[in-house]
Amino acid sequence: MPLPTHVTAEGDRPVLVLDDIHKIYNPGPLQVHVLKGISLAVERGDYVAIMGHSGSGKSTMLNILGCLDVPSSGKYLIDGVDVAQLTEAELADVRNQFLGFVFQSFNLVRRTSALANVELPLVYAGVAKSERRRRAITALGLVGLEDGRLNAAGRTIVIITHEDDVAAHAKRVITLADGRVASDHRKAPVAGEPPRLIDLTALEDDEVAAS
Ligand SMILES: Nc1ncnc2c1ncn2[C@@H]1O[C@H](COP(=O)(O)OP(=O)(O)OP(=O)(O)O)[C@@H](O)[C@H]1O
Ligand SMILES: [Mg+2]
Repeated sequence: MPLPTHVTAEGDRPVLVLDDIHKIYNPGPLQVHVLKGISLAVERGDYVAIMGHSGSGKSTMLNILGCLDVPSSGKYLIDGVDVAQLTEAELADVRNQFLGFVFQSFNLVRRTSALANVELPLVYAGVAKSERRRRAITALGLVGLEDGRLNAAGRTIVIITHEDDVAAHAKRVITLADGRVASDHRKAPVAGEPPRLIDLTALEDDEVAAS
């Protein structure tokens, strides 16, 4: 199924924009205010790592970025298009073809677990098993986890991780704290190669910890 053309149009504008995003779970007396005004723009071809303590809102933000959930308020634009304006069919296309996911809890060495994590949202999306596996391998390949090297394929990558080792290879590192952007550091130019990935599998555990 082709993507809506207004979603795929190339341009200089940021590929992803979050504008004052709030997320409140269970609105009412027991509500949980998780995202408290997140604004950021992601350039095409960037490689962004989102870090932050447990409960800071990373998965909530990723679910919104991945169109698996909607914000309580604020705007989310993909290629300049307000996601809230898309029809269900267009959203399904965006989810299936425009967006890929890498979840935070993968392990660089245990590839099966990486695959399982990447496949998870596709399970929710009702994608068949063989297709899930194919897409997961492709997605991991794009961030260099499939063969241990980063692939500068020009794709835009937003990765959520607790691992300093993983964030070290991102071009930009954003830290969330209590539902807000606490820090935002550029480590390599958007257009350049991502910082080199060391071959973690070739190192002993203590060497990895010391690096
Ligand atoms: N469906 C929900 N209903 C109510 N509260 C929720 C829901 N989902 C998440 N939360 C709460 O929102 C906060 C942020 O959760 P989130 O999963 O986004 O954090 P996280 O940064 O991904 O944490 P972790 O590193 O542990 O995965 C937590 O306090 C969590 O308990
Ligand atoms: Mg999480």
